[in-house]
Amino acid sequence: MCGIVGAVAQRNVVSILVEGLRRLEYRGYDSCGVAALAGDRLERARSVARVADLAAQVEQSGLGGETAIAHTRWATHGAPVTVNAHPIFSCDEIALVHNGIIENHEALREELRGQGYEFVSQTDTEVIAHLVHLLLKNHAAGDLFKAVRLATKRLHGAYAIAVFRKQEPHHVVGARAGSPLVVGLGNGENFLASDALALAGTTDQFIYLEEGDVAELTLDGVNIVDRDDAPAQREVRTVTAYSGAVDLGPYRHYMQKEIFEQPRAIADTMEGVAAITPELFGAKAADTLGRVDSLLILACGTSYYSGLTAKYWLESIARIPTQVEVASEYRYRDSVPNPNALVVVISQSGETADTMAALQHAQSLGHQHTLAVCNVATSAMVRQTALHYLTRAGTEIGVASTKAFTTQLAALFLLTLTLAKLRGHLDAAQEENYLTRLRHLPAALNSVLALEPQIIAWADEFARKDNALFLGRGLHYPIALEGALKLKEISYIHAEAYPAGELKHGPLALVTEAMPVVTVAPNDTLVEKLKSNMQEVRARGGQLYVFADADTHIGNGDGIHVIRMPEHYGPLSPILHVVPLQLLAYHTACARGTDVDKPRNLAKSVTVE
Ligand code: G6P
Repeated sequence: MCGIVGAVAQRNVVSILVEGLRRLEYRGYDSCGVAALAGDRLERARSVARVADLAAQVEQSGLGGETAIAHTRWATHGAPVTVNAHPIFSCDEIALVHNGIIENHEALREELRGQGYEFVSQTDTEVIAHLVHLLLKNHAAGDLFKAVRLATKRLHGAYAIAVFRKQEPHHVVGARAGSPLVVGLGNGENFLASDALALAGTTDQFIYLEEGDVAELTLDGVNIVDRDDAPAQREVRTVTAYSGAVDLGPYRHYMQKEIFEQPRAIADTMEGVAAITPELFGAKAADTLGRVDSLLILACGTSYYSGLTAKYWLESIARIPTQVEVASEYRYRDSVPNPNALVVVISQSGETADTMAALQHAQSLGHQHTLAVCNVATSAMVRQTALHYLTRAGTEIGVASTKAFTTQLAALFLLTLTLAKLRGHLDAAQEENYLTRLRHLPAALNSVLALEPQIIAWADEFARKDNALFLGRGLHYPIALEGALKLKEISYIHAEAYPAGELKHGPLALVTEAMPVVTVAPNDTLVEKLKSNMQEVRARGGQLYVFADADTHIGNGDGIHVIRMPEHYGPLSPILHVVPLQLLAYHTACARGTDVDKPRNLAKSVTVE
């Protein structure tokens, strides 16, 4: 989703900002731009192509300055055309970039038109730029910091903004509510960014702005006020976690790199887990986890599927009723709150707008027991929950989530074991057995990754298809869903997943010789039923592509293609079975020549509704 970078320095910062935009490309965008204060003029370059094109424009035009802001835009209001690309100007005096959605933009637009402002874009952002300009003139006596503080009080919705004014060199103001913004501290220079990753290599000192904060950056320092206009002291954190994240190493794409990082990511996520104890989720977790009587899991996208998988574990191992809901549905649904439930939000980024809003909605309904499973320690979601488990997947850059998913599963399995133990469903021998299995997971994952050459051969076939079906049963039904999601996200092949038992209630009508049917076939209690479902597909001429555990007695045959998985891995099997589906999607997309890490229309962090 939209990315912001801004700076004040005593050197030309435009190339730093453009490099920052490159680092934010992974968030997803469809246009980009940069504006700088060049002498006493506002200058900008904008592009509806890639950041590389913007960089070429900057080089050609010589655009430069010591006060500048830059942006990658993921269109919401107004098409991805140059006139809507940020930075947006007001009256040739204010330059502004914005991430988020201003819900009252129509009312503000009317009001500003009444004041004589002309709108040249279709964006909601333009109202912020003109509003700041108006307030600057009428109420803030030329004080940009004050004007932005006044303007934010008029905005409904989500925003992170960065703004400067041509009369005030070396002065940039940022504000956030609902969308992320960090301050990067340098020596005689200061920065703003949506994500610290944008500034990796420039600084490792960061302040994570809180909801409602407004910050002014000058050469000498940073001044922050909270939503009540009171001076705010925010912790300065040293963030060095990004070194290496942007190097591709021997891989073609970040997605491939991240798939292969999964053994390491799981090992890191499990690091220090010597025994199952509530303290894994926070110092005061024992009381809460010992008390809750059910779980309500809220998430979006791939994170939602990790929640769906966990439901099977939580109900069968911990014997605790679990409900899993898509966050964007839950937040608007008239639900019946249970104050004894544990609300679990799952998010790679910790900034997904719908998941955040669902959490806030649950809290407004009286839910006090909250827990986040998240990959970003500094995220709003971690800050807003009482308990958390941090996955240590490392920065995930590919838009399609891979290592975040498997580390979420590992964390959710630990939550399952913790609740099982507290509820008397886990004895010492079982605990040790599960822990041994978890510790062995990285090695088991490595043997699954070794299947890549066989999967590449299948991917060449899939690349020529228009549709695919994915089947799974029980614990592996969510894995089939995740496999179908991966394929559609990056290869643009239409893919659907079904619980295999549902086949004859509809999707069987689609099965012809042209339909590849991917089947997740672990050697579990449902394997015989799954084999019957496979026969139903074969009888209609469908081509089966089966990932089968050893001992399932499913072999290659007419219309049945089998890749043999390592031994059955018990309840942790989904963590292994999802990996070949990630690889299948990845190599199919490569064979089709799509932009794997930045699939069309999608964003990494969906910070708008
Ligand atoms: C976007 C990403 C997905 C991700 C989903 C939820 O759609 O493209 O990969 O699963 O958001 O993101 P989160 O950060 O909350 O896990």
